[in-house]
Amino acid sequence: MTINFILNGEDVEVQSEANARLVDILRESFHLTGTKAGCLAGRCGACSVLMNNQLIPSCLAPAFRVRGAEIITIEGFAQTDEYRDITGGFEQAGVICCGYCDGGKILAADALLSRSGRPGREEILAGFGGISCRCTEPDSLVEGVLAAAEIRQRRIYGRGA
Ligand code: FES
Ligand code: FES
Repeated sequence: MTINFILNGEDVEVQSEANARLVDILRESFHLTGTKAGCLAGRCGACSVLMNNQLIPSCLAPAFRVRGAEIITIEGFAQTDEYRDITGGFEQAGVICCGYCDGGKILAADALLSRSGRPGREEILAGFGGISCRCTEPDSLVEGVLAAAEIRQRRIYGRGA
């Protein structure tokens, strides 16, 4: 079937089986390999993308559900100020990014900060509930998100709070 959707801000079209996984379409048809194919069962978060501004595991999204949707992958998100807020915060807090689940962690942080300008510790940990990262301690993730929140506030309002 023909699948039309918006990918990183552009209208795209792809021929696909109705049940093909979005992660495979992104990697194979669009060469967007920042979206990783990990567990393929919704457990690791390495395949995370934003679909209509919601964080989803793209391994669980069949092609037919993507029709007409807006998908943002880490490659598209990397062009934004919001990406730089988060990577700046992660760097400040020493959040390790080994290349495997970075995209998932960064998009999860953005989904969190879009909901709440200054999330609490439990909210942050819950926001990363779908990401299974072998490299980063939870405390470092919390610090990274809080640092990113401050950077974002300063960028938008020109102050730290
Ligand atoms: S590959 Fe999708 S959640 Fe692991
Ligand atoms: S950054 Fe290495 S597994 Fe998450």
